[in-house]
Formats: sequence, C-alpha cells, structure tokens
Amino acid sequence: MSQDEKTNQQWGGRFSEATDAFVQRFTASIQFDQRLYRHDIEGSIAHATMLASAGVLSNSERDTIIDGLQAVRADIENGSMQWSIALEDVHMNVESALTDKIGITGKKLHTGRSRNDQVATDIRLWLREEIDLIGLELTRLQRGLATLAGDEAATIMPGFTHLQTAQPVTFGHHLLAWNEMLERDYGRLQDCRKRLNQSPLGAAALAGTTYPIDRQLTASLLNFDQPTRNSLDSVSDRDFAIEFCAFASLLLTHMSRMSEELILWTSAQFNFINLPDRFCTGSSIMPQKKNPDVPELVRGKTGRVNGHLISLLTLMKSQPLAYNKDNQEDKEPLFDSVDTVKDCLRAFADMIPALQAKREVMLEAARRGFSTATDLADYLVRKGVAFRDAHEIVGKSVAFGLQQERDLSDMTLAELRQFSEQIDADVFEVLTLEGSVAARDHIGGTAPAQVRAAARAVLEGLKSR
Ligand code: ARG
Repeated sequence: MSQDEKTNQQWGGRFSEATDAFVQRFTASIQFDQRLYRHDIEGSIAHATMLASAGVLSNSERDTIIDGLQAVRADIENGSMQWSIALEDVHMNVESALTDKIGITGKKLHTGRSRNDQVATDIRLWLREEIDLIGLELTRLQRGLATLAGDEAATIMPGFTHLQTAQPVTFGHHLLAWNEMLERDYGRLQDCRKRLNQSPLGAAALAGTTYPIDRQLTASLLNFDQPTRNSLDSVSDRDFAIEFCAFASLLLTHMSRMSEELILWTSAQFNFINLPDRFCTGSSIMPQKKNPDVPELVRGKTGRVNGHLISLLTLMKSQPLAYNKDNQEDKEPLFDSVDTVKDCLRAFADMIPALQAKREVMLEAARRGFSTATDLADYLVRKGVAFRDAHEIVGKSVAFGLQQERDLSDMTLAELRQFSEQIDADVFEVLTLEGSVAARDHIGGTAPAQVRAAARAVLEGLKSR
C-alpha cells in the first residue's frame, strides 16, 4: 500500500489537511472490499456503456474507459495492482488505477454515479454469483442424500423422540427428513436471489442524478430483473444481505442437527454408521480415537454464522435514510457467511455419499426399546379395544418385558394373552420391525416403498433446478 498521498485525490478538493493516518486506516475498507473488484469493474463497464448511449460520453471515450477497466482487471489478477489505503476502498482504487492508465478520460467514469449506488450494485452482483454457486453445492448435497436414502430405503433403525426409542423407521426416511430441511433452505436462497436482483445504479448518492441516464439499460446489461424503484432505499438498505445471512443461519442450524446425529451415530454407544477415515482425525494422546471433526466443526460454525446475522441486523437497526458509513460494516460478516456456508456444504456433499450404514447394528438397536409397542396398541384397536385401554394393556406388557428383559416379539402368545384376550397368533406379524415400518404406507410415511418413491421424486425434482 502506498501512503504518500497528501489529501485524497478523489474527494480532497475541500480539504485543507491530509487525513489523520489512523483515521485513514480506520475508515478504509480496501483491506476487505478488494474482493468485489470484478463486480465493481463489471458495474463500471455497464455504467460507461449507458453513459455513451445517453450521449454523456462519446463512443471513443466509452471504448477507452472499457479497455482501461479491462487492463486494470488484468493487473489485479496478475498481482501487479498497488492497492492504496489512502484511496479508501475498491471503488476509488479501481477508478484511480483507470485514470493512471488512460488519463483524463478516466475521470469521466464517475459522471452521474456515486460510490453509494456503486457499492450497493457491487454487493448485489457479488452475492448473486455466490448464491448461484451455493445453490449448486446445496443441490449436490441433496442429490447425495436422496441417493443414499434410496439405497437405505429398507434399512430399519430406531426412530427417536426425546432421544428415546420411539418407533422403528427406515434409515432412508431419516435421510429424507434432512433433505426436506435443505429443500426449504434452497427455496429461501432462491427467494433471496429474486429480491436482490434489482439494479440500484442510477440512484447515485441518494436522490438520483441530473444526467439523462437509462436505468433500464444498466439493469439489463447487468442481468438485473429491473431497476430499483426508489433512490433513497436503493443506497441504504442491506436487507438482501440480512436475508442471505438468515438463510445461512437456518441452513447451518439444519446442518448442525445433522452433524449432531452423525456424531452420535459414530460413537461406540450408537455405532450406527462409519465415516471414512479421510473425514476424521485422530487424537495425539489416545491412540484408539477416531474423531468426527468435520460434523463437529460444521456444528460449531453455526455459532459464527448466527453471529453474523445478528451483526447485520444490529448494523441496520435505526439507521436513518439514506446511506450511512455504518453500511461499510456489512461486508465482513457477509463475506464470512458466504465462505462458511460454501465450506460446510462442500464438506457435507463430499462426506454424505461416503457414509456407510451399519445395517445390522441399526436393526439390533431397533429391536431393543420396545419400538413396536404402538403397533401392538393399534392391533388391539383393530380388534375393537378402545385406544386408551389398548395403551394401558401394552404398557403392562412392556413392564413385564422390562422385568424379563425381553422384547414384545420374544414373548409367547400365552404370555401376551395375560394382558388381553384379544391378542391372537396374528399379533406377531405386527410385532416385527419389518411389519411395523411396512404398515406406515402413506405419503410421508416410513414404509420402504414410500421412501423409495420419495427418494426417486427428490432426485427427479433436482434435475429441473
Ligand atoms: N466503502 C464504502 C462502503 O463500503 C463505499 C461507499 C462509501 N460512500 C461514501 N459516501 N463514503 O459502504
């Protein structure tokens, strides 16, 4: 960074002394907003193109500016750009580099524009591109989940409520529950994209501009759906970044739930799945350890992303119209949220298809904990017993089983009949785990046939994204 500038060359006209060195650093954003350079240049090219079409610039000035901007982009990408703190942010650094390259014509680029509409445009363009990348990665994860769900459609495991064995479910069904959470997250991501896809260019500092600008043209050059409708709002609100962070928070919240289950399932106590070694790490002191670090970190990163959402909400709260420098603080939380979401999705999209279900262990676990007790109650209801009475009868059977350390399906017919005369030999069909899951054969149920169909439907739906 060169710091030899006396007063700021872009806005120094009315100043009589140079900015305090600390204040310069304190107010600068170039340390982090250089990341927007590509979108800043893209916005400038659209702006210059529009100015020429409106007759504000000549065609040759436009061409000189566009060539110059492309040369600046090349400098940035080959590492020869000298970023300057004195030039505060990416917008003024790029503009100054342009003028260094092409001379006086470079100074005409900022006609009819302000950094306020410029930055509002840049972040939208940047975030839109990131949203599309995140959408692809989220889809890859969902595809992995649905594929595994199809393969595990008939794998029986205990289903839990209160983390206590409740009723048997299929592993595929459990995986598809995760997918439903992600499906809604994808919808939220697309909603966010829809709302942010409007062009603030032309709002200028806050009130619009006196030049005969064509906002439709810049909007369409930048693939925005339309220009924003109010200049004051355009330069001031960062609700689109907040919406993205809200999406990120919910996504990570869902992924933290998945993480928690993966962590439990890899423990010796559950032992339901195996995560391949390449997704785990060891302990420097305990040689036997294989730790599920990837899901643990994803669970932990939820805190970080939730923090960013709160940062942005608090940043926006009570800000008077229109632009305020507070908004410069929007970038780091947003950037970090995007980076974190991308890393977590990548980790899961790689890891989920490699996960191995230990089918025998899951089945054995479902056999314990009286997971077919509800099936016995439903059986009694079908034989004419009122549900509350059936509940009582089964409760007593379970108490007997606990005493004997035997599951309901291990009891003899005579033993079961102590609790109700309505029980016949056909009871054993409903007491099996296979019978229990197969009986829940309706939309959204855990029957293998339903899970197979649901997994297929998910995969089909993902194709049209
Ligand atoms: N670096 C600023 C930001 O990120 C750009 C806009 C500054 N505008 C201004 N009038 N100071 O928000």
